Amino acid sequence: MSTMRAIEIIASGEPEVLRLTRRPVPTHGKGEVLIQVASFGINRPDIFQRRGNYPVPPNVTDIPGLEVAGKIVAGDLDHTYNPFGLALGDRVCALLQGGGYAEYCAVPLVQCLPYPEGFDDVEAAALPETYFTVWSNVFQRAALGQGPLGQDESLLVQGGSSGIGTVAIQLAAQRGHRVFATAGSREKCNFCESLGAERALNYRELDFASEVMSLTDGRGVDVILDMVGGDYLPRELACVADDGRIVIIALQRGKEATIPLSDILRRRVTMTGSTLRPQGASFKGAIARELHTEVWPLLASRTIKPIIETVLSAESIVEAHQMMEAGKHKGKIMLSWD
Ligand SMILES: NC(=O)c1ccc[n+]([C@@H]2O[C@H](COP(=O)([O-])OP(=O)(O)OC[C@H]3O[C@@H](n4cnc5c(N)ncnc54)[C@H](OP(=O)(O)O)[C@@H]3O)[C@@H](O)[C@H]2O)c1
Repeated sequence: MSTMRAIEIIASGEPEVLRLTRRPVPTHGKGEVLIQVASFGINRPDIFQRRGNYPVPPNVTDIPGLEVAGKIVAGDLDHTYNPFGLALGDRVCALLQGGGYAEYCAVPLVQCLPYPEGFDDVEAAALPETYFTVWSNVFQRAALGQGPLGQDESLLVQGGSSGIGTVAIQLAAQRGHRVFATAGSREKCNFCESLGAERALNYRELDFASEVMSLTDGRGVDVILDMVGGDYLPRELACVADDGRIVIIALQRGKEATIPLSDILRRRVTMTGSTLRPQGASFKGAIARELHTEVWPLLASRTIKPIIETVLSAESIVEAHQMMEAGKHKGKIMLSWD
């Protein structure tokens, strides 16, 4: 059996529990392809998995890693469902349920997309987790742009300089929406504004809820992308517009909140949320098709771009996790196999 280099979590804990090892090359199943990985991204959920707070879905490898880019080297390409006409040898980026921290991974074909024209391996690997998450939560679930004000709807992005935040700001601004963001330093706020946020608010110094109300003349924003949870929920309810939508994708400040339910009734607010990882291949495939139509041309024309803080060798995985936890990065931390 041939083996590959991979990174495993030897026990729950600090970044040092990540260890380079050798594992068997995975085999692909029906409807799947085998990708020889050139580059992969790290994401905050990988940190939660490493700490033991993000259970691996059933029947998924324990190797972490939710996104890769590389070459299709084997696979079930005759599968009738091959919307992008992918073939052996094509370079693709893919959204995974796990297993991205390895030289090879198996993934459903429907979760693979061709590189946007002109993209290299690192840029392509920086796309899947953030673009799938933002597209499904902001544009599908919270339906930004499909509410009463249409194109004039506005968005508040919590954590605007994160991998997720940099995508949400660029996509919404490019589609003509007013975008506001929060971040934890002046430098990060400036960066969010350089990406298209009309105003970014330093959440350590300002009350974002009252600032948003004054920036919107007392109306509030139509959609809020929340990766904070906890005590942010009542404050978000205070600055979301009537008929507004709050979509929760992480709970960094706590799993519980006390909110005035009467506001939801009176002002017709929708509170929703999702996690991408446990969703099935057909759900992810539907997102991939919309991304290819709506977003890939914007990437190819460089109208929007992946924000990459740094690219490290895969062997520097401990350093990569330390960087993410230090929280000084903007956008994505990427790794490549030599
Ligand atoms: N539900 C899903 O399917 C899904 C998928 C992927 C990611 N996520 C979540 O999305 C978030 C971003 O992921 P990522 O990989 O892009 O991670 P990341 O780059 O490490 O971003 C984490 C962000 O959280 C922000 N933050 C922390 N406390 C905050 C607060 N009190 N107010 C405002 N912002 C705050 C940080 O802002 P500062 O650095 O400025 O403090 C930082 O920008 C993570 O929480 C992750 O778990 C969810």
